[in-house]
Amino acid sequence: MSRSQRTGEKGGFTVQTELNDRVVLVSGASSGIGAATARAFGAEGARVALTYRSGRERAERVAAEVAAAGGQALVVPLDLTDLDTVARAHATVVERWGGVDVLVANAVRWGGAAPDPTARFEDVPLAEWRAMIDANLVGAAAQVREVLPTMRARGWGRIVLVSSGVADEGLPGPGPYGTAKAGLHGMARALAWQAGPDGILVNVVAPGFTLTESRPPFPQSLIDELAAGTPTRRLSDAADVASLILFLGSAANAHLTGELLREGSSAARAHRVGP
Ligand SMILES: NC(=O)c1ccc[n+]([C@@H]2O[C@H](COP(=O)([O-])OP(=O)(O)OC[C@H]3O[C@@H](n4cnc5c(N)ncnc54)[C@H](OP(=O)(O)O)[C@@H]3O)[C@@H](O)[C@H]2O)c1
Repeated sequence: MSRSQRTGEKGGFTVQTELNDRVVLVSGASSGIGAATARAFGAEGARVALTYRSGRERAERVAAEVAAAGGQALVVPLDLTDLDTVARAHATVVERWGGVDVLVANAVRWGGAAPDPTARFEDVPLAEWRAMIDANLVGAAAQVREVLPTMRARGWGRIVLVSSGVADEGLPGPGPYGTAKAGLHGMARALAWQAGPDGILVNVVAPGFTLTESRPPFPQSLIDELAAGTPTRRLSDAADVASLILFLGSAANAHLTGELLREGSSAARAHRVGP
């Protein structure tokens, strides 16, 4: 029995991820949630393509961890502000491994400085709206467009779009980021109907305030305050989010599609200090 078939065994019931040798494309895998997701798929024996924008060396380090965990890894550049790079990244993966079985659209264009809760809606330039929507919404559509033909031909696919609790709970200050993320929810609903007949399941994960190695350190008092607002009294970390993405992006997810899953911290309103 393969490693992936053993995953999730409980008593007489076996949940099979069936990820061994599956080709998984994780965009934005050079840090944070994307890196943890790449590691999680690697540990299931998957072939993982990791994209980076500026952090090639970081991506290479994560790729080494994927390989050490039993997967295979390929590092490719992808920049959401230049959507031609999405097609190029996909072509590189196809050349190496033939096609993508699982897409995790996780890369994000954060924009400039951290969101200013006092900034006024009307002061955000339209150019910033366009840039945020183009990168984070059209950019996700571009990733999906690339992988769909192979998934349809194979009659199997899993797509996970990474959103944010900000999308449906809002954030004080201007809203291009949350608006772009909210668009992913509509995209997943439409796509679930479009691609469902071909065996492709599409879902959205909305993390709340998630502790990652790429976040600046926060005072413990703030972390404690935010954690107190969650059902579990703790904030999520990148591995928590990755475990949910792994489930949705595997055969263990047998028939869930078009859904939005709010990850633990997302219930906290913790995101009021950041996305
Ligand atoms: N962390 C949170 O609290 C939180 C909360 C809600 C939602 N999320 C969502 O979770 C996802 C991952 O967030 P994270 O906190 O793990 O982020 P992160 O650590 O900052 O990583 C972001 C990733 O996206 C890449 N990236 C940055 N700009 C890009 C661009 N213009 N084009 C393509 N890739 C780009 C980065 O690549 P380089 O570093 O190589 O440039 C990196 O791999 C995002 O979609 C985010 O919106 C995060």
